[in-house]
Amino acid sequence: MTPNEPQTKTRSYATAITLAALALVILLTCVPYLISIALAEGPKQNTEASPIFGVTIPPGYKQWELIAPAEEAAPLDELRAVVGNQTAIDAYQTGRLPFPDGTILVKRAWKRKQSPEFASATIPGAATTVQVMVKDSRKYAATGGWGFGRFVGGKPVDEAQHRTCWGCHEARAKSQDYVFTRLAP
Ligand code: HEC
Repeated sequence: MTPNEPQTKTRSYATAITLAALALVILLTCVPYLISIALAEGPKQNTEASPIFGVTIPPGYKQWELIAPAEEAAPLDELRAVVGNQTAIDAYQTGRLPFPDGTILVKRAWKRKQSPEFASATIPGAATTVQVMVKDSRKYAATGGWGFGRFVGGKPVDEAQHRTCWGCHEARAKSQDYVFTRLAP
């Protein structure tokens, strides 16, 4: 044993403790950031899905092509536009029925509003609902291959409302693969 050996040991303990303390400080500084990142991205990654069907609002639908506008009389009294993804547009243009898997149709709706610049013109007011139909013939075999979602303020409405979708589309739009909207001329 040389006389300076214990001193070396003490020094290396000190270094180890300092490094450990440093690592702890770095870790503790990072944790809040990691948590805030997880919280910020969490809701965005899994936007809330509709009950029964698990349908979500498709990203980018506001840039989708128009299939047809529509109006709804009182009491809802709304302006509407049905838009579709590329699969939907291709199916409409070729007249292909049934719609292929991957078809997504979105019905946008707004309160009717008088143009502030021109009294006889009606323009979209506040957005009311976003309604979605997704074609997946295996997943939604029990409902004609369609999954449904109705969203108000970005949140899906309750299960009771989702129970109504298939019944009406099935009863009234069967000859068109349960889709009411036809391509606007
Ligand atoms: C009482 C009948 C009825 C019920 C219930 C109903 N719809 Fe519809 N739906 C229609 C009609 C009529 C249209 C076409 C006219 C329009 O755009 O308003 C339509 C259109 C749509 C469209 C555009 C594609 C198409 O078929 O024309 C989507 C998407 C849609 N509905 C989703 C839903 C969802 C989701 C529900 C349930 C939350 C639902 N619908 C419940 C009658 C109904």
